[in-house]
Amino acid sequence: MRVAMIGAGYVGLVSAACFSEFGVDVTCVDKDTDKIARLEGGEIPIFEPGLADLVSSNVNGGRLKFSSDLAPAVAGANAVFVAVGTPSRRGDGHADLTYVYGAAEEVASALDGYTVVVTKSTVPVGTGDEIERILRTSRPEGTFDVVSNPEFLREGSAINDFMRPDRIVIGTDSERARDVMRQLYRVLYLIETPIVFTSRRTAEVIKYASNAFLATKITFVNEIADLCESLAADVHDVARGMGLDGRIGRKFLHPGPGYGGSCFPKDTVALARTAEAVGARLRIVETVIEINATRKKRMADKIIDACGGAIDGKAIAVLGLTFKPNTDDMRDAPSLAIIPALIQAGASVRVFDPEGMAEAKKLLDGVVWCGSAYETVAGADALAVLTEWNEFRALDLARLKSLMRAPVICDFRNIYNPSQVAAAGFHYSSIGRPAIRPSALSNEGTP
Ligand SMILES: NC(=O)c1ccc[n+]([C@@H]2O[C@H](COP(=O)([O-])OP(=O)(O)OC[C@H]3O[C@@H](n4cnc5c(N)ncnc54)[C@H](O)[C@@H]3O)[C@@H](O)[C@H]2O)c1
Repeated sequence: MRVAMIGAGYVGLVSAACFSEFGVDVTCVDKDTDKIARLEGGEIPIFEPGLADLVSSNVNGGRLKFSSDLAPAVAGANAVFVAVGTPSRRGDGHADLTYVYGAAEEVASALDGYTVVVTKSTVPVGTGDEIERILRTSRPEGTFDVVSNPEFLREGSAINDFMRPDRIVIGTDSERARDVMRQLYRVLYLIETPIVFTSRRTAEVIKYASNAFLATKITFVNEIADLCESLAADVHDVARGMGLDGRIGRKFLHPGPGYGGSCFPKDTVALARTAEAVGARLRIVETVIEINATRKKRMADKIIDACGGAIDGKAIAVLGLTFKPNTDDMRDAPSLAIIPALIQAGASVRVFDPEGMAEAKKLLDGVVWCGSAYETVAGADALAVLTEWNEFRALDLARLKSLMRAPVICDFRNIYNPSQVAAAGFHYSSIGRPAIRPSALSNEGTP
């Protein structure tokens, strides 16, 4: 089997490497010639654990190639995967399909023999129909099928997610195309991964509905966390008590500063716009979008409160910039809303992230870039943890305190033990757990 993977981003590159690991011949194509040159030189342009080794072993095995020349890769392929970006369209929030349709035009002119054209990008319902129309207009006699095969991998654990998915969704009514897809995913079929065959439109809905549900679950627990703060309850215990119920499940019940990343923010908005356009509004999703946007901004107020109500002239140390750990992806990260609000309130902001600094430098202005966690907190009036990188979990609290000007920690990922932090003499503010001041310990014992 031969595959052309169009797009060498987070999804395209991981999918290309994983298919080649399954024994498929893959050419991964990107129009970004610099990206392709780096890949050809053995460099991985993104940070994704395990990806460098997987790419190099399959390149060495002759199963994985990179190219910026789409036509030959498509001409020789049994299946062409479209894995290009679908960002939010400026102004209205609909998915911007410029890259998808651009890729479809290029694929159309290069098709040679029966080919399955597969949409891996997250695309609104009806996009597969439009791709088919583009291909048919350009190639009236062409033999092809257009299939929807949405991707559910998560950055940071992308390889494992691709290799051991909970399910594979394949949307097509063509039995010939199903056969090709079955062969491509044969390795996963053999380990009994559920394969959900549906119509193309249904597959497109499954992807958006899944992301919207997960974003809703996060937002739900975020609001429960706020309630816990007001009621002196602990959201961790609440989430555990809820999550052990098999109908609810434990995953995605971790409160935080609001969801971010390359998918949930844009996909929830695109789904709401699609629903609106067909007169079937999704009011829960609309509310989730609104709550999440205001939540990120409110996190800056929480830091200001922890600092006594004003941060003008103060130094705030921020640890973690990416939207989650184990990725360098900065798209829609909460840090991009919180840090400018801190600067606006008069603070100087010192920042550090283990892998996201290069991307963050393209998006954040007016901060002090630091080389380590301890360097970041030097002279700070408060520390805000925005991303739960493992290396932040084990910081030496006594050392932090000795370096900081004021002992204040805003732990927006709840990575510290409240009583330990308070015992070390910090004012501790977290998400969904009662704030603790050191004096509370001496007056009232361990909280
Ligand atoms: N990132 C994720 O975690 C994730 C997970 C599931 C689904 N998705 C979806 O997958 C799609 C891709 O996301 P991503 O994060 O990999 O995007 P990305 O921005 O990292 O990568 C997209 C790549 O496509 C390339 N490209 C654009 N047009 C092209 C063309 N005509 N020919 C060749 N290359 C072209 C770009 O240069 C870029 O390298 C999106 O629809 C996204 O919603 C992403």
